[in-house]
Amino acid sequence: MTQIHGIILAAGKGTRMNSTKPKVLQTLSDKTLLGHVLAQAQQLCSQVHVVYGFGGEQVQQTINDDSINWVEQAEQLGTGHAVQQAMPSIDDDSISLVLYGDVPLIEQSTLNDLITQAQHSGVALLSVVLENPTGYGRIIRQNNQIQAIVEQKDANDKQLTICEVNTGIMAVNSGLLKTYLNGLDSNNAQGELYLTDIIAMAVNDGKTISSVITDNEFEVAGVNDKVQLAELERTFQKNQATKFMQQGLGLKDPARFDCRGSLNFGQDCEIDVNVVIEGEVTLGNNTTIAPNCIIKNTTIGNDVSILPNSVIENANIGDGASIGPFARIRPEANIGENAKIGNFVEVKKSTIGKGSKVSHLSYVGDTTMGENVNIGAGVITCNYDGANKHQTVIGDGAFIGSDSQLVAPVSVGKNATIGAGSTITTDAPDEQLSLSRAKQRLFSNWKRPVKK
Ligand code: UD1
Ligand code: CA
Repeated sequence: MTQIHGIILAAGKGTRMNSTKPKVLQTLSDKTLLGHVLAQAQQLCSQVHVVYGFGGEQVQQTINDDSINWVEQAEQLGTGHAVQQAMPSIDDDSISLVLYGDVPLIEQSTLNDLITQAQHSGVALLSVVLENPTGYGRIIRQNNQIQAIVEQKDANDKQLTICEVNTGIMAVNSGLLKTYLNGLDSNNAQGELYLTDIIAMAVNDGKTISSVITDNEFEVAGVNDKVQLAELERTFQKNQATKFMQQGLGLKDPARFDCRGSLNFGQDCEIDVNVVIEGEVTLGNNTTIAPNCIIKNTTIGNDVSILPNSVIENANIGDGASIGPFARIRPEANIGENAKIGNFVEVKKSTIGKGSKVSHLSYVGDTTMGENVNIGAGVITCNYDGANKHQTVIGDGAFIGSDSQLVAPVSVGKNATIGAGSTITTDAPDEQLSLSRAKQRLFSNWKRPVKK
């Protein structure tokens, strides 16, 4: 097997981003632009080399991957010069695959085609036909065979009418590439060492240039500013949504669905508009997510209803549960089977047992709650004493009256009842009523104050 070396060009500053971050660190979905290219390259290549320049330290720190060979290009003297920097650590009998750090949606299958072609011919080039080719290097063909690439700034009027352009992505036998790179000069309009000049050199050398033409413009689209970044984000999301729908996911409007991570789902799941999925999310069968929910790193079972405007992070939601509307489920919440978490309820680091209900306006934190518990409106677990967090334990079948506070550490027994408005500071026993509310008094002579 021929070794494949990926060379990712990422030295450009990306001035048009108007950002303190190097361009390749702008994010698309859940990854940086460079992260997307790296993910593809690492699938195909035995070694990946990243040519960095502007903001190199920041790029290396953010990507934080020891398997990468980081190559500095101190001065940006052209794409040919950039590739030259990586060549010393590449064997002659391998294939070099040149990629751009700001072209994030390049596809595996296209790169595979390119590599296969390069194994036969020595030089394979990826091109695309654009309605408006302005700015790109033009592909010059004779009898359909590629002869050269001419940059926009060096092209004559006739060449400028050519619509087949260089994507910049190519696969070349590394030995040949080294030879041609050594022969480059900067006698051109931009005074740079053009990688593209190796094409004419290979032709002069008697090589036939193989060509792969993609019909997917977005796959080879570069990102120079935030308008293009947003365009590619939409394309990425649309493609992902299409894939999910083909696998059976119901999306009310694929244009109003974002997944920044990975989503697994069973059958007959439906997602309404403006839902954002982040990290790793799993849905069982027959689960529905209503509009405006944000769900991150969470496993959700079968037959679950997530009602509108709920925010769920690092949680587990059991089969048949109902969450929201307006619920906030925070990290380490385990919501049991058929449990109900209603509106304006916040749950953190707590287990809610099977069939238990927390229907309105509650905070439940650091709590272990049994099965079939009923939590009245406005109940608060007071888990924090200003310095430490404490646990609340609530037994099966307990009933906590509305507007009660459970001051942790505290436990409420099985089938215990807490009268509404109680502040519970000592353990409440099984089966009994605990009440801490002051006795109601009547002031028969009391008058409301009047304005002076
Ligand atoms: C290049 C190609 C052009 C092609 C176009 C596709 C050359 C001479 N021209 O043009 O044929 O149509 O890409 O977008 O190759 N880079 C470095 N170091 C450098 C110069 C560039 O790392 O010294 C990196 C940039 O960060 C970028 C990529 O290489 O990721 C392309 O550079 P850019 O300046 O955008 O090339 P173009 O002039 O647009
Ligand atoms: Ca460019």
